[in-house]
Amino acid sequence: MLPRRRRALVEGPSNFSEVRFPGVTIYLVEPRMGRSRRAFLTRLARSKGFHVLDAYSSAVTHVVMEQTSAQEAICWQESRAAPAPGCAGPALLDVSWFTESMAAGQPVPVEGRHCLEVAVPRKGLPSPVRMPPYACQRPTPLTHHNTSLSEALEVLAEAAGFEGREGCLLAFCRAASVLKALPCQVTALSQLQGLPGFGEHSRRVIQELLEHGVCEEVERVRRSERYRSMKLFTQIFGVGVRTADRWYREGLRTLDDVQSRVPRLTEQQKAGLRHHRDLSTPVQRPDAEALQQVVETVVVQALPGATVTLAGGFRRGKLQGHDVDLLITHPQEGQEAGLLPRVMCSLQRQGLVLYQQHQLSHSRDPTHLTQRSHTMDTFERSFCIFRLPRPPGSTWKAVRVDLVVAPISQFPFALLGWTGSKHFERELRQFSRKERGLCLNSHGLFDPEQKALFRAAAEEDIFRHLGLAYLPPEQRNA
Ligand code: UTP
Ligand code: MN
Repeated sequence: MLPRRRRALVEGPSNFSEVRFPGVTIYLVEPRMGRSRRAFLTRLARSKGFHVLDAYSSAVTHVVMEQTSAQEAICWQESRAAPAPGCAGPALLDVSWFTESMAAGQPVPVEGRHCLEVAVPRKGLPSPVRMPPYACQRPTPLTHHNTSLSEALEVLAEAAGFEGREGCLLAFCRAASVLKALPCQVTALSQLQGLPGFGEHSRRVIQELLEHGVCEEVERVRRSERYRSMKLFTQIFGVGVRTADRWYREGLRTLDDVQSRVPRLTEQQKAGLRHHRDLSTPVQRPDAEALQQVVETVVVQALPGATVTLAGGFRRGKLQGHDVDLLITHPQEGQEAGLLPRVMCSLQRQGLVLYQQHQLSHSRDPTHLTQRSHTMDTFERSFCIFRLPRPPGSTWKAVRVDLVVAPISQFPFALLGWTGSKHFERELRQFSRKERGLCLNSHGLFDPEQKALFRAAAEEDIFRHLGLAYLPPEQRNA
């Protein structure tokens, strides 16, 4: 959730003043400015709701100097504690930025003419963040330093997806993903210099967020009837963007509208609506682990030696998710055939299955590896809703579960493909294709020129074959 405009009371030297621009923390440098003018400018800025610190610290985003050359400014900065590795540090600004901001009653965008650090080679400063272009080339942890920025961009990405604007969706996802991989918080637009993935639109959004704490466009999208309805509909199990869009164009807005006015819902959608309340509350990690255990017990009974692996967001370390992704395999190739129906029967007998839809493996022919299809795989699979038993006293909860069966020879690819994140997978496949000329999907890695399949015993082998440093699942949260 994006914070609404934050207003915080900050203790100044003489009074309490209200901070209106949380992304901006000013430090006025005294030497050339002089003590009394500095005190005056400080009072002025605080009265207008700017956050001004008396002492320099790492919280400062805007350092303001008067009658100072770029060279002097850099010397001044080098005498301060160096920012964290990879962080650009605060913007070094001429007093003109300050006076224009006072006149405007809000921080004005930092422009080249305000900057004191133009094109002077900096020796001894940390090198700029090295950020390779593909998400699969860099670690992306689950928690990072730019959540409010990345979440705002992801709202725009999602909204673009609802309109079928795939290019736009990708651009916003890329920018959000780069922010997630940064080693520190972005406090000034200048810190994005030299980083991949930021187009004009993303920069504009980030700039607005840094200055005002909110972005008008993002707020407008969030409030819009279109976005809210599309989000509501696509969250229903069995409803994709195309169905949601059709319903919206037919005038439907609420779940009640869907229930009462859609003549032919699929069985999947009916189940989705029946259990909508449970399915729209996140699955918690302990519940996911409990389900993995339940399924594993049944799988091992049906086929000793078979294994069940928790994939998806939970494998990346997430504490909650929208479903539970379970991968089933057996160390001996072929043994897994016919396993899933037996497992489902057994789970059904235990009263755990509220809904299931079985999908047969489409094809065992490896030529499907040459297809350009990005997200579809053809494993034998069961889309289910499970009835998750709860501790005595409380009621059960419906949970979305995907059971996927992979033969052991394809298992590392299936695991890699089903661990996500979606953006990580997208970039990994694009990297394989564009940079290596190889076709990667959840079944394998294929060389179209040699017409050869690459073998892998573990995920590490796949990274190695692609010439990528291995990233553990916790670092794939792109
Ligand atoms: P999910 O949609 O479950 O995402 O797909 P997630 O990261 O686990 O997120 P939450 O926590 O459930 O919301 C997990 C991975 O499985 C792949 C996706 O591309 C993603 O990388 N996947 C999903 C497939 O390969 N095929 C599918 O049909 C569905
Ligand atoms: Mn999932």
